[in-house]
Amino acid sequence: MKKDKNQMKKEYNEILTLTGKYLEQKKEQGERQVYLSKEIKLSQKEKSSTVPENLLAKLEKKLKNCRKCNLGESRTNLVFGAGNPRAWLMFVGEGPGHDEDMKGLPFIGRAGKLLTNIIEAMKMKREDVYIANIVKCHPMIDPGQPQKRGNDRPPRPEEIAQCKPFLLKQIEIIKPEVICTLGTHATQSLLEITTPIGVLRGKFCSFGNCKLMPTYHPAALLRNSNLKKFVWEDMKKIMKERSKN
Ligand code: URA
Repeated sequence: MKKDKNQMKKEYNEILTLTGKYLEQKKEQGERQVYLSKEIKLSQKEKSSTVPENLLAKLEKKLKNCRKCNLGESRTNLVFGAGNPRAWLMFVGEGPGHDEDMKGLPFIGRAGKLLTNIIEAMKMKREDVYIANIVKCHPMIDPGQPQKRGNDRPPRPEEIAQCKPFLLKQIEIIKPEVICTLGTHATQSLLEITTPIGVLRGKFCSFGNCKLMPTYHPAALLRNSNLKKFVWEDMKKIMKERSKN
């Protein structure tokens, strides 16, 4: 398969990181000169420690039994995130709902189907992007009834505070060019602001090394289809940004 420019850029950066590590290691061993040979040999461990697939798998394993907040007590499944570990575009939602909790996968309910349609309208597949949430376990109004539908609530600040570092770690590993936050809670939590989504949406802002585009949550579009045109405008801006690189 032909590699695109961004994939090559990512791989080039990975090579630079590995080369840097190798030189650091030589320096620590007291060497002051290095000789170029045709091949720099890295241990299997060194190789695997920079591969996004491995880093994500390691993080997911670490979170498997997480009980950092009360959501860990009531969840059926932790919803780590899914998609391409080298995605240029990452979607961030608020938190798993009933269907996601049952299956352990993000955005697979009604709102998720709409998100899939949006991604496909952007001429991509779900597998091309990465999808995650601000919190990894289902926030429920009544935690005693995980089977009940309509038992969803937004995550609380203390739950976000416990879980957000893991999302930041995922972003650090994936290194997307663009993050699209879906709805009020994802946007405000990542940007640490309280400005309404209606004001924030449609305008890129900086987030670390990437650009962040806030837009409405697909669930909001299910309630009010008039919002669809705004989300499509925002997606077109994301595609335009991508075509610049
Ligand atoms: N809503 C979200 O914010 N995230 C999901 O994964 C599903 C629904």
